[in-house]
Amino acid sequence: MKLRPSTALALLLALATTAFASKEKPVIGLSLDTLKEERWQRDRDTFTAAVEKLGGTVKVQSANSDDTVQVRNIESLISLGVDVLVIVPHNGSAMTRAVKSANDAKIPVISYDRLILNASIDYYLSFDNIKVGEAQAAYAAERLPKDRPARIVRLYGAPTDNNAKMFKQGQDNILNPLIAAGKIEVVHEDWALDWKPENGKKIMNAALTKAGRNIDAVVASNDGIAGGAIQALTEDGLAGKVLVTGQDADLAACQRIQRGTQAMTVYKPLKNLATLAAQVAVDLAKGKKPAVASTLDNGAKQVPAVFEKVISVDKSNLAATVIADGFHSAASLR
Ligand code: GAL
Repeated sequence: MKLRPSTALALLLALATTAFASKEKPVIGLSLDTLKEERWQRDRDTFTAAVEKLGGTVKVQSANSDDTVQVRNIESLISLGVDVLVIVPHNGSAMTRAVKSANDAKIPVISYDRLILNASIDYYLSFDNIKVGEAQAAYAAERLPKDRPARIVRLYGAPTDNNAKMFKQGQDNILNPLIAAGKIEVVHEDWALDWKPENGKKIMNAALTKAGRNIDAVVASNDGIAGGAIQALTEDGLAGKVLVTGQDADLAACQRIQRGTQAMTVYKPLKNLATLAAQVAVDLAKGKKPAVASTLDNGAKQVPAVFEKVISVDKSNLAATVIADGFHSAASLR
C-alpha cells in the first residue's frame, strides 16, 4: 500500500505522540459513565483545564451508561498509550477486566468519585459519601412532624453505583433509629436505575398511588431524581408541600430551592476533586506516588483514598456557599 506523504506524516506524528508521550507532557485518559448530568460536564471541564495547566492533555470518552461501551472506551484509551487512566465507572463491579488490561499495560488507574470494586486501582478520589447521605437524612429528620409518625419516601440512586449504596448507608445511620422508635414510617422506597430523573418520577408516582397524598418528605439521593420526584409532586399539586432533599447543587435544583419546591441539596465543590485528581494523575505520569491520608478496601486491596468535604445547602445559605464559590452566578438563581 502506498501512503500519500501527508498521510504518512500524520501517521508518524500520531505514533510519536502515542507511543512516546513525553512525561513532561503527560496524556491522561478520562473515561466517564455519562455526560448527561450537569455535574460530569463540570468535572470534565475542570479536570481538563487543571491537567492542561500542569502541562498535560486529556483524552475524554463517555460511555452513555453502558458497561460494554465503557470497557471498549478504556481499551481504546489504553491502546492510544495514555500515561494514566481516570475512570468514573458506570458500574463499579463491571470494570475489573478493563482495569486488568490497564495493569498489564502498566498504566496507573484513578477511580474518580465512584469506587471500582475488586480491581487493582491506584487511588480512589471522592467525597465523603456517607456524610452526603447523613446530611440529607438529618436535614429531613430535623424538620419532620414530631406529634405523629412522619411518613417518608426514600429514593435511592443507581444500584450499580457504589456511591448510591454509601448515600443510603449514611441515610440509614440517621433514619434507622427513628424508624425503629416508630417516629418515622417509610411508606415507599426504591432504587432509580442509572440515576435517571424519569425513574425518580416513576418511583414517586408509585409512592403516591400506594401511600396517597399524605407524605411529609422525600429523601432523594441526588438532584436529578429529586427533580423527577418533584415533577410527580407538581402534577398532584403537592410541590412545595413535601420536603425533598437532593445532592450536587445542579442549577435546576438550586433554582427549585429558591422557588421552594426543593428543600435542600448537598454541595460538593467539584473543583477541589477535579484539581486534586489532575495533580495526582500528572504526578503518577511522572513516576511519583503522592501520599494521601486514608485508605478504603475495594475487595482487592486497601486503596489509597481521599474524601473531600461536602456542604449541606438550603435557601438560607445558597448565597454563602454555591454562589460565593462561583459554582452558580447570583443572576442565574434570581
Ligand atoms: C454519583 C455521584 C453523584 C451523582 C450521581 C449521578 O456517583 O456521586 O454526585 O451525580 O452519581 O450521576
